[in-house]
Order: sequence, then C-alpha cells, then structure tokens
Amino acid sequence: MTQQPASATGPEPAARIRNLSVAFGERHHAVPTVRGVDLEIHPGECLAVVGESGSGKSVTARTLIGLTGGQAIVTADALELGGQDQRGNTARAWRGVRGAKVGYVLQDALVSLDPLRPIGREIDDSLRLHTNLTRRQRQERVLRLLADVGIPEPEQRVRQRSGELSGGLRQRALIAAAVALDPPLLIADEPTTALDVTVQQQILDLLAGLKERGRACC
Ligand SMILES: Nc1ncnc2c1ncn2[C@@H]1O[C@H](COP(=O)(O)OP(=O)(O)O)[C@@H](O)[C@H]1O
Ligand SMILES: [Mg+2]
Repeated sequence: MTQQPASATGPEPAARIRNLSVAFGERHHAVPTVRGVDLEIHPGECLAVVGESGSGKSVTARTLIGLTGGQAIVTADALELGGQDQRGNTARAWRGVRGAKVGYVLQDALVSLDPLRPIGREIDDSLRLHTNLTRRQRQERVLRLLADVGIPEPEQRVRQRSGELSGGLRQRALIAAAVALDPPLLIADEPTTALDVTVQQQILDLLAGLKERGRACC
C-alpha cells in the first residue's frame, strides 16, 4: 500500500467557502438569501448542513456546482474546490466541474427522475459525455457502480425503468450516477427526505461508506 505524501500545509480541502453571500433579484433591490457562510470540507469528511426550511441550504449547495441561476448575485471571499478558485467561472467551466469535480444529487432529483428511463441510462450519460470509455467499458462501469451502491442483481436492474424501482433503489441509482466520474466531493441535498425511515438509514450508511473511501460529502 502506498500513501500520498501530504504537503507541508496538509491536503487541500475538497471545498472551501468564505463569507459567501447569494442574493436574488435586481442588484439594487436584492436581499441576500445566504449571508456570511463559511465552510470547509476535507477529503474523507462528511459535512452536514442543518437549518430550517428556506434558510438557504440548497442555494449554498448549488453555489458549489454553479447552479444558482442567472438571477443570482454570488459573492465570496473564497469559493474553492480542491484549492482552486471557482469565482468567475464561465458556464463552460462550471460544466467541467459538475460530475467530474463535484458529484451531486439535487433535492428534487428523486421526484424529477423520468420514470420511463432505465436507470443504467442515467449513469451512462455522464460516462458517455465525459470519458473516452468504449460502450463495453461503460457497461461494465455502470454495473460496477450499481453494485457499489448496494443495488442487488445489477445485470437485471440496469435495464429497469426508474418507475419500476423502489424509492430507496432509485436514490441509490442517483448516487451511483453522481459518483460515476469519481468526483472527490459529493453533494447530496436532502437525500433521505422522500424515503421511509428504514431506507433513510441505508442511504446514510451508503454515504458513510463513500466517505470511508476518501471522498468528501456534504
Ligand atoms: N432561483 C431563485 N430565485 C429567487 N429566490 C430563490 C431562488 N432559489 C432559492 N430562492 C430562495 O432562497 C431561499 C432559500 O432556499 P433554499 O436554499 O432552497 O432553502 P433550504 O434548502 O434551506 O430549504 C428561499 O426563500 C427560496 O425561495
Ligand atoms: Mg433545500
């Protein structure tokens, strides 16, 4: 087993935010929805953001993937992924971040999944767009990802439409899609809210397992 040499200052945080403010609306009338947020997530760490409904958790999460929307006015003293400044990213630069540098499961992902689409297709999308893997290699990787997130009988499940799966299996498939490109950071926005209590714990265990493998999650 080999160990990565740590730099003198330690490894860069997977994500670092300093004094984040996000406001919506016209510049002169905009009232910040998110104000003065600081956070830091290191590889192998899991950070939970807690707050009442409407307090800006989802807006903060979407800031890390450049999906706050065109009307948002985002300012921050630092907005870094893996030590790299993301302020002033173009739309194209953010597309390069999403999936590859930050995997994400958005808050409404479970309910907005197309029920007629095979779950394997969801996962294959990002592999097809962002890697040079052959079709065969992608198929193998999709099956491996489904197995990794605890979906039984991946060979059968991969062809099933998301509408044929339980909520828990669908959420696992979404997490598999989010980590398909092996991003160092995973954002899961309320990944358990729509699930039964027993299934909620399974999803939390799954996220904890990803963390054990050195990925940071938020
Ligand atoms: N695109 C947007 N335009 C205007 N207001 C928004 C937009 N997105 C979120 N908001 C507002 O920001 C506030 C925080 O929302 P959100 O981050 O979703 O809260 P939480 O996830 O903590 O429940 C809410 O009042 C919401 O209406
Ligand atoms: Mg939210």
